[in-house]
Amino acid sequence: MIQLDDVSYAYPDTDHFVLSHMNLSIPAGSVTGIVGASGAGKTTLAKILSGFIPHVDGGELSGTVVVDGVTIAEASLADAVSHVGLVIQSPFNQISGAKFTVREELAFGLENLGVPRDEMAVRVAEVADLLGITGLLDRSPYALSGGQQQLVAIASMIIMRTPVLVMDEPTSQLDPGGTRMVFDVMSSLRDSGITLVIFEHKLELLREHADVVHVLADHQLIAHGPSRAMLADPRMEEWGIGSTRFTAAASEARTKKLLPADVELPVSIEDAATVFASFASSKGA
Ligand SMILES: Nc1ncnc2c1ncn2[C@@H]1O[C@H](COP(=O)(O)OP(=O)(O)OP(=O)(O)O)[C@@H](O)[C@H]1O
Ligand SMILES: [Mg+2]
Repeated sequence: MIQLDDVSYAYPDTDHFVLSHMNLSIPAGSVTGIVGASGAGKTTLAKILSGFIPHVDGGELSGTVVVDGVTIAEASLADAVSHVGLVIQSPFNQISGAKFTVREELAFGLENLGVPRDEMAVRVAEVADLLGITGLLDRSPYALSGGQQQLVAIASMIIMRTPVLVMDEPTSQLDPGGTRMVFDVMSSLRDSGITLVIFEHKLELLREHADVVHVLADHQLIAHGPSRAMLADPRMEEWGIGSTRFTAAASEARTKKLLPADVELPVSIEDAATVFASFASSKGA
């Protein structure tokens, strides 16, 4: 579904490769998390997956990128964006600048596809309801808070119903309630069969929602694994990604022999509850 073979990339007018000889394989219908320290190249990879590189940003791209059966470099940008949507890191930059209301903004991409007006209205209403932004539909996209703009940006991509959706830190402007809501929406998208790639710093949420997590460091994807095992990996600190408070607490408890040496470290509160409860019951036995 998504296949990168030996992909290297340098931005225009630079002489160093941000990504170098990268390989990646993502199955259709899966939810994949990608983590990396600031500057590791997450946004660059998100743009490569969605055709913005090379079609918009230019630069020197080598290797092959195939998404939803389409070889991205050979396709037109219009063709690429019908297969894969990108929620960009800065929601302000996702706003088209061409529309006066959120309603028109959400319909903008559908207009370009020639979707009939009636269907457009239904899809706008549906996606607005899904993201809790119905009350914003008549507002100007520019008269919104950063969090509201982020929800509009996400909605404007979901409405396109692309088979693949790439999200670059989609909850950076949102409070915990808004963040959880967006991840719940991602869960419902997953049920509809979409392939999701999420670049995200909120590790507990990736633990809950991603099947597999990849680590981006040193210009490559250097490790991957099931979300819990990968996010609790002690090397996450070395890679500049850090760990959740649950992993840190259990790791310390293990060092102090309060937990067995072979315990699988938790990443979320649910994992932690299970780990500590099973230890408490084994002690009580
Ligand atoms: N347009 C550009 N031209 C030249 N270099 C760039 C450009 N955009 C990004 N870079 C460089 O590419 C590297 C990777 O940047 P990128 O934005 O992909 O990282 P990131 O992992 O998304 O970081 P963050 O966590 O801060 O969003 C950085 O060294 C950055 O300075
Ligand atoms: Mg980034």
